[in-house]
Amino acid sequence: MAPTEQGTPVVDIHTHMYPPEYISILSLRDTIPLVRTFPSSPEPRLILLEAELPALERALQDPSAPLPGRPLTNHFTSLAHKLAFMFHHNISISVLSLANPWLDFLSPTEAGPIASQINTLFEAMCATTNNTTTHLAQQPPTSRKLFFFGTLPLTAPPSTILSAITHLTTLPHCRGIILGTSGLGSGLDDASLLPIFSALASAHLPIFLHPHYGLPPSVFGPHSEQGAYGHVLPLALGFPMETTIAIARMYLAGVFNAVPELRLILAHAGGTLPFLAGRIESCVLHDLKLGGGGGDTEMGRRRRTVWEVLREQVYLDAVVYSEVGVRAAVEAAGGADRLMFGTDHPFFPPVEGDMEGEWESVRLNVTAIETALGKGNQEAQMVLGGNAVRVLRLVEE
Ligand code: URA
Ligand code: ZN
Repeated sequence: MAPTEQGTPVVDIHTHMYPPEYISILSLRDTIPLVRTFPSSPEPRLILLEAELPALERALQDPSAPLPGRPLTNHFTSLAHKLAFMFHHNISISVLSLANPWLDFLSPTEAGPIASQINTLFEAMCATTNNTTTHLAQQPPTSRKLFFFGTLPLTAPPSTILSAITHLTTLPHCRGIILGTSGLGSGLDDASLLPIFSALASAHLPIFLHPHYGLPPSVFGPHSEQGAYGHVLPLALGFPMETTIAIARMYLAGVFNAVPELRLILAHAGGTLPFLAGRIESCVLHDLKLGGGGGDTEMGRRRRTVWEVLREQVYLDAVVYSEVGVRAAVEAAGGADRLMFGTDHPFFPPVEGDMEGEWESVRLNVTAIETALGKGNQEAQMVLGGNAVRVLRLVEE
């Protein structure tokens, strides 16, 4: 990737970290999400997903069983590794976010103070990095910039959540929030979230909507132990469907009409939304006509089409790994000016294992953008970085 040939920086808007303080919390837990060490593994294991539970139970009973979850490499926790990854892949600016499941599992009293601590840590990482020229072993000094998406204490009372938003507005490198799909416990179409969405919109903090819960394992059907296929079904299919369902529910509840200034960036190019938006639209239309429940909803009364909402209030990341997916995302979003490059670092490390080498997951996404939009041309440059700089105001104030 040659990002600076035409002078536009490459910006990674989908890149995660777990600060060591967050890992300490996970290490003390005995239900997911958790971090465990196993005698047969040099690195602790990060166990986040319901789909990882059967393997966790087997490994706890049988030391020779395959290890559960994924290795907790230092790419998850170390700023130096994040910067080295950026350097290696020519990424000039990263917008960091805490990875899933964020603070979803904390008690109502813990959530507020921990959100404040985590958001302050992210701000400090950005501030120190942006004021320093980085010297990495065997690499020339370079300048990498960081911004971040904050985290909300969603299990805390609404007043604490609103205070967390106010706190984020005081952090100079915060450019939005990362949000899962559970909301306050009843999804993102819950009317109780409207004051929070309004506060985010007023503060010009877009929501980076990211999956975690996937689909219940039963959705994939009964199977033998060998038929579980590791992370493929939950991550390739469960994650994108979760995002699609969440955004469809927001649309049906009229959230976008209720808060017209709200902006969302959808992870993984909107899940399956570019492909299914037409079907959602058709089902709403027919439901309204045929007297189904759709006619009584907010949607039925003040209707903008899914396509209009996509083009007016939604951006998509370009973490879709294929030319076909990038083309569909551009079409659905209404233009290449609404798509933004991301890597999902550090969840998809190099297949051959050299963590400091090239990550195929990055190459696949860069190649998809360059093949779909034309290597070096303006649209590809916009997706690789220009859009993020414009939409997220990635200049220091
Ligand atoms: N990517 C993420 O961001 N989270 C996961 O749990 C897996 C992949
Ligand atoms: Zn991610």
